[in-house]
Amino acid sequence: MKLTISVIKADIGSVGGHTKPSARMMAAVEGEVAKAIDNGLLIDGFVRHTGDDIAIIMTHTRGEGSSEVHQFAWKTFLAATAVAKTSGLYGAGQDLLVDAPSGNVRGAGPAVAELSFDHSLSGARPAESFMVFAADKCGPGAYNLPLYLAFADPMYCAGLMLPPMIKGFRFHIIDMDNTAGDSVIELDAPADGYHIAALLRDNERFGIDRIVSKTYGEVAVAVSAQRLHSIAGKYTGKDDPVAVVRNQGIFAAPEEIISPFAKAHFVGGDARGSHVMPLMPVPLNTPVTGMYCLPIVSCVGFSIDRDGKFSESYTDFFDNLAWDEVRQRAQRKAIEMRSQGWSGAAMLPYSELEYGGFRDTVSGLLKRFRLREEPKPQAAE
Ligand code: 13P
Ligand code: 13P
Ligand code: MG
Ligand code: MG
Ligand code: MG
Ligand code: MG
Ligand code: MG
Repeated sequence: MKLTISVIKADIGSVGGHTKPSARMMAAVEGEVAKAIDNGLLIDGFVRHTGDDIAIIMTHTRGEGSSEVHQFAWKTFLAATAVAKTSGLYGAGQDLLVDAPSGNVRGAGPAVAELSFDHSLSGARPAESFMVFAADKCGPGAYNLPLYLAFADPMYCAGLMLPPMIKGFRFHIIDMDNTAGDSVIELDAPADGYHIAALLRDNERFGIDRIVSKTYGEVAVAVSAQRLHSIAGKYTGKDDPVAVVRNQGIFAAPEEIISPFAKAHFVGGDARGSHVMPLMPVPLNTPVTGMYCLPIVSCVGFSIDRDGKFSESYTDFFDNLAWDEVRQRAQRKAIEMRSQGWSGAAMLPYSELEYGGFRDTVSGLLKRFRLREEPKPQAAE
């Protein structure tokens, strides 16, 4: 069967400020997902939140960009938005940027990552396992560095030296500033590794869209790479990307995929989407309540049975003592960075400050600048 994994995620309201969705919102989404499984729209579904973003992880046979699946997610988010509004929650419906998208919800606000494969549990994939990353309070290129390291650098993924992976991976990289449509370049690692790095170093403009095995043509990774402010034309919250990553066998092993996150690398995000702060790996369903508004990322893993259903239990990758050490380090990095407040590298550059108001403040001041008159030279006595 041709199986599709779809992850659709939206920030549609939160309790006590931008921390987490309410239990009633989560229950509303879970109820809709259960109905969609019952009526055969979905094969399986799983709901979790990261900060105040709710992600729906689904399997089905309707293909990528299916209007039925996307419309289901949209209506489900609308139902949870209604719950958020009734309870007076902050930012109700925040990521639902258009009135009623027809069909596909890509470009309408929610983050979408989807990939499809022939699910036969034979040949190159005798078992199917995957992980889903979901981030909150950070920019769209948050996975650029960790996914590059996992799929292009044998210092992180020694498995790249094995026959199934030694031909490398093809990176599809999207220019998120091109509002005319999806503008994508395909570059091969390791051959084009430096070109890939030259683009991916800019987390705000370029993002990984997908990564495909050179040997098998199988898609390993799909990422939601879109900028909310390009869609809305103004700041509406952080982009908070999601990613689906297939693992093991012909792909990297879970530890090879998650070890780059031990860096707690600096990304754009945090309070008002305007700071440069470390990305902290957290367990599923973690609210944003630290002393800052740290960018956070969760990672859940599943296996898939013959019928396309998820394994009866899942793995919460960052819910482990090893990651407590990383969280402590992320916090220390955060304290260091924020000790310089608004100065220089601690905040995003002018063009990337996501709150338009910051720009308005400076624009207002720019109007008041005056060219200083040069003092006239004194006439010689
Ligand atoms: P297991 O023996 O648990 O399968 O682990 C082997 C391995 O290759 C880990 O990446
Ligand atoms: P959200 O995208 O979670 O709403 O966060 C945006 C923000 O501005 C945090 O201060
Ligand atoms: Mg968000
Ligand atoms: Mg929010
Ligand atoms: Mg959010
Ligand atoms: Mg957001
Ligand atoms: Mg084993």
